Amino acid sequence: AALTAVTARADTYPQRPITMVVPFAAGGPTDIVARIVAEPMSKALGQQVVIENVTGAGGTTGITRASQAAPDGYTIMMGHMGTHGAAPALFKGLKYDPATSFDPIGMAAGTPIVIVAKKAMAAPDLKSFVEAVKTGGASINQAHAGVGSVSHSTGVLFDSLIGAKPTLVVYRGTGPALNDLMAGQVDFMTDQIVNVATQITGGTIKAYAVATPERNPSLPDVPTTKEAGLPGYEVSAWNAVFAPKGLPEDVRKKLVAALDAALKDPNAKKRILELGGTVPKDGEAGPAALQKLVESEVARWTPVLRNAVDANP
Ligand code: MLT
Repeated sequence: AALTAVTARADTYPQRPITMVVPFAAGGPTDIVARIVAEPMSKALGQQVVIENVTGAGGTTGITRASQAAPDGYTIMMGHMGTHGAAPALFKGLKYDPATSFDPIGMAAGTPIVIVAKKAMAAPDLKSFVEAVKTGGASINQAHAGVGSVSHSTGVLFDSLIGAKPTLVVYRGTGPALNDLMAGQVDFMTDQIVNVATQITGGTIKAYAVATPERNPSLPDVPTTKEAGLPGYEVSAWNAVFAPKGLPEDVRKKLVAALDAALKDPNAKKRILELGGTVPKDGEAGPAALQKLVESEVARWTPVLRNAVDANP
């Protein structure tokens, strides 16, 4: 009888729409990646994958809530380098453990960091921008998406590296932060490329450098941090699909296969690449690689962030 029950479930999941929790505001990088993969995942699963934006506390509000949902395959989430890498270093009472509270489904996109500023920022290049941020002190406003988010952790890393103490301005995601950057209401941020590539190309904001070893094909005119004189600042983020721990094996396999199909969808792939993101290479895709990545990111970010945040609390 037990066997029959398992077989029946495997054949029937999913029977209703699946909620994908995005722990940041709509229109930002996590939301962009989630919507790109949700569409082909829906096709593969034969049910709609519906995005729900649950914002707050650098993404940890949405991830906490999603981690506590029933592990039945009807609630999944888009986590990232912040929620599943940086957050444990910054939240003492974090209610989830990135390495043990989830069934990892797989990486969705790599999202290199770009140092971006409002259009009116006078500095013509990264070196003079760094000087301006250092000498400007608290008069310079740096946007981020909450303690533990990607823009926060990579932002405080930038500040500690150059020895600057700007005023940090918090948003519910870098989608809304970008709007204020375009309006000139904040001065700069370090953000994931998929959020800012279009505005950089359109000239509504400035980009000083991409924090990767090579230039990005979507922004060929933007120098790398190394070329621009700040070789110590190389940092990339990633976005990945997780489910609450304890999925039935058949459900887990279907979700893994659906994400895999989504990443092979030519349109989804094209959109991620056009925005400057990367799709997981062989060996980076799937649950085992994601589990390893989470463990290594928590280990990597914990000491870095404790130092950086002490330098600019
Ligand atoms: C977002 O979607 O707003 C971002 O991923 C926020 C961040 O972590 O910087």
